Amino acid sequence: MNDGTLLDLRSDTVTRPTQGMREAMFRAEVGDDVLDHDPTTLALEERVAELLGKERALFFPSGIQANQTALAVHGRPGSEVILEAGAHIFNYEEGAGAVLSGLQLRPVPTEDGLLTPHVVREAIRPPSPYVPPTCLVAVENTHNSAGGRILPLRTLSEIRDVVLAAGIPLHLDGARLWHACVETGHPPSHYGALADTVMVCLSKGLGAPVGSLLAGSAEAMERAWRIRRRLGGGMRQSGILAAAGLYALDFHRDRLAEDHARARELARAASAIPGLRVDLPETNIVMLDILAEDVSPGKVLDHLASEGVLMVQFGSRRLRAVTHLDVDDQGILRATAALARAMERLSAL
Ligand SMILES: Cc1ncc(COP(=O)(O)O)c(C=O)c1O
Repeated sequence: MNDGTLLDLRSDTVTRPTQGMREAMFRAEVGDDVLDHDPTTLALEERVAELLGKERALFFPSGIQANQTALAVHGRPGSEVILEAGAHIFNYEEGAGAVLSGLQLRPVPTEDGLLTPHVVREAIRPPSPYVPPTCLVAVENTHNSAGGRILPLRTLSEIRDVVLAAGIPLHLDGARLWHACVETGHPPSHYGALADTVMVCLSKGLGAPVGSLLAGSAEAMERAWRIRRRLGGGMRQSGILAAAGLYALDFHRDRLAEDHARARELARAASAIPGLRVDLPETNIVMLDILAEDVSPGKVLDHLASEGVLMVQFGSRRLRAVTHLDVDDQGILRATAALARAMERLSAL
């Protein structure tokens, strides 16, 4: 029941910096990153570039700004970006590709959120003066709206072969690439090797308060540096934030496996509740489908909130719960019990 504390499963972005992270931020050496580098930001950028096997990485205030910078680096106005229909870049970035870079986004629906080499090959436009040229293929790993699904390295490699043959660059929205790495055991550099630009987030799952990075070739990042600044993303003493990111990379990466185990536990327990259907997640995002037609998802959310448990609606009959640094085993038991009570009470009405 409600013990006065909140269990926030709405997103893995809701985490608060830990004591160790705050101390690292407090101690951070800083400078003016727009003028001549902030030393801690530079250290974070070098660390992420190395992890992803790229020449250079740049620190951004947000994943959206980093994704949109990548789109601006690769695209020309009037050209087309191919992505999966559930992609964050298509659904949740405020139409930025069109507004900021004049790009046409071409969403390709798939059953499970995963692009395949065949789907990409079919979507790439043949050269013609009558159709917009394809300027980029963007993939998302893990795939947020597909319930944290992992795009297998092998599929990514086959997609890479298709885009290489067509002479088109590949961008990887890896907001949760760390989750895919921990779950598959592949190092980030294996994914990095297959994409021209890679965006990774520090503020989802890894528990940093702010920050994402875009990595790629030195030449692409030189262009990205200007675009970032144009978008207002040039930060000054950003080392305070970068220190949190370095701490997160050191101490919060391996533990993502715990979030995945808890997400699976939540899914297993919730799927035993009458009226719910829950697929076993691959990483930390659990999608709960409300089958009982007389039960409104909004009312389930209200009931959960009355017990201090927060989830979000994700589609007309679907709820989303995300595990993260601030959710422990007790939290999973609490969420499951609250869900069972919600479904029982609302079904009985
Ligand atoms: C897959 C994906 N890409 C990009 C973003 C954008 O990140 P931000 O909220 O830091 O702009 C998100 C945010 O949840 C995401 O899930």
